[in-house]
Amino acid sequence: MAKKRSSSRAWLREHHADPYVQLALKEGYRSRACYKLKEINEKDRLIKPGMTVLDLGSAPGGWSQVAVELVGNSGRVIASDILPMDSLADVEFIQGDFTEDAVLERLLATIGSAPVDVVLSDMAPNMSGLTAVDQPRSIHLVELALDLASQSLGDGGCLVSKVFQGEGFESLMKQARSQFDRVLTRKPRASRPRSREVYLVASGFGG
Ligand SMILES: C[S@@+](CC[C@H](N)C(=O)[O-])C[C@H]1O[C@@H](n2cnc3c(N)ncnc32)[C@H](O)[C@@H]1O
Repeated sequence: MAKKRSSSRAWLREHHADPYVQLALKEGYRSRACYKLKEINEKDRLIKPGMTVLDLGSAPGGWSQVAVELVGNSGRVIASDILPMDSLADVEFIQGDFTEDAVLERLLATIGSAPVDVVLSDMAPNMSGLTAVDQPRSIHLVELALDLASQSLGDGGCLVSKVFQGEGFESLMKQARSQFDRVLTRKPRASRPRSREVYLVASGFGG
């Protein structure tokens, strides 16, 4: 127990000293993660005014805040997470476990018939610390995000998804390449260097 307490104290120290945490507090964002999406979007120019964006694994809401800014008044942001999320102006939120069919159905019903332009997924499973358990869980979440992307994106649509490098990564990239014109990975500056996390950026759906 003592070891656990000291490691969570170390985590808190690192978290408070983190420049992206400080910046998020100063600029009114709900997460340091928002700077990952900002950097990806600055490079790849995916989210534009008037677009419809789906944000999977949205809580506490940093990516949704960025998406709302980018789509503007004429756009639409639909967000979802297994956890509750404090309401955000101009964000339609659906709470539920994305691995459940009922949640997928609610999302599809909310999206309606108009195609989505960009699917975002920053979903990450609760980490057990055991790669053999965590890696397949995280790959499964990306597969489900790819599946929803293929059901909801219009021609030319995009997907940005967190992926952990390791077993299953290459086959995911292959799957994405079969559905999108252009597939690459980004490691934004706000993504901790020691993390195996990268972001799959796929554009040109159905090309
Ligand atoms: C890194 S956080 C997302 C941070 C968010 N992008 C932001 O900027 O505020 C990952 C999220 O994925 C969610 N998540 C993990 N597994 C999920 C699942 N099966 N269904 C829905 N959400 C899930 C977690 O609850 C968590 O809120």
